[in-house]
Amino acid sequence: MRYYAHRGNSAHAPENTIAAFESAQRAGFEWLETDIDVTSDGQIRVLHDSHLDRTTNGSGLITEMAAAEVDRLDAGSWFGPEFAGQRIPTLEEFLDFIEQSGLSVNIEIKPTPGGANAARILMKAAVAAFERFPGRILISSFNHVILSELRHLSAGIPVAPLYPEGALPEGWLAVAQLMGATAIHLGDGTPESGRALTKKDIAEVRELGFDASVYTITTPERALELESWGATGVFTNGEFGSNAH
Ligand code: G3P
Ligand code: MG
Repeated sequence: MRYYAHRGNSAHAPENTIAAFESAQRAGFEWLETDIDVTSDGQIRVLHDSHLDRTTNGSGLITEMAAAEVDRLDAGSWFGPEFAGQRIPTLEEFLDFIEQSGLSVNIEIKPTPGGANAARILMKAAVAAFERFPGRILISSFNHVILSELRHLSAGIPVAPLYPEGALPEGWLAVAQLMGATAIHLGDGTPESGRALTKKDIAEVRELGFDASVYTITTPERALELESWGATGVFTNGEFGSNAH
C-alpha cells in the first residue's frame, strides 16, 4: 500500500513548506500530497487553505493577494519558532524538490475561489508537471469538472476525484468512468461520527477497477485495516512514520 505524506510530514513540520517535504523524505515517504492555488496575479503557490490566516502571518484570500506579497509571508512560525522563515513554496520550487528528491506526488487542485481563469492556470500547470514527471504525478480535486477538463487537455494524465468524509455518493461511478479516473480518494470518518468507511465501500471501488486511497489516517491500526480491505493508499500526516509495518 502507498503512504502519502499529507501536505508533507505535516505532524512534524509546517504543512506544505519545503521543510515539511524534506522531513517527509527523511522519514522515508516515497509519495507526497500537496495542494495548489493561484495568486491575484496568476502565479501558483503551494497552499491548502484558500485563506492565508491559519498557516502564515498574513490574512485574507490568496486569490486576492499578489505573488510578491504572498512571497514575503512567513509560513513556518505558526508551527514552531525553529521553522521561522519558511515560505509558501512556488510550484516551481516544489517541482524542483520533486526532481532533486526523486519523490512522487499527488497534486491536489484546490476548488479555487479564483474562478475559471484560476482553474485554467492550475490545469495547465498540472499538465506540465505530468509531462515533466510522467509516472510520478497524480492529480486530484474535489472539483470534478476540473479533472474532466484536464483529461481533455491531456488524455494520459492520471486523475482521482476526491470525496469528503464518509461513504461514496450515489452516482460516483458515472463521474469516475466519464473522466477516466485512475483512483478514488475517500475521506475517512470515525466510528463515533458514524461515517467511517467500511470494507464494503473499499471493495466496491476496487471491484469496479479503481485504486482506493483514504485520508487522513492517524493510526497504524486503521492503515492496516484499510490495507486488509484492499485500499491501495492512505494519506497520513506522519504520526506513525512512513508506513504502518
Ligand atoms: O487528498 C487528501 C486530502 O488532502 C484532501 O483534503 O482538505 O486535506 O486537501 P484536504
Ligand atoms: Mg489536499
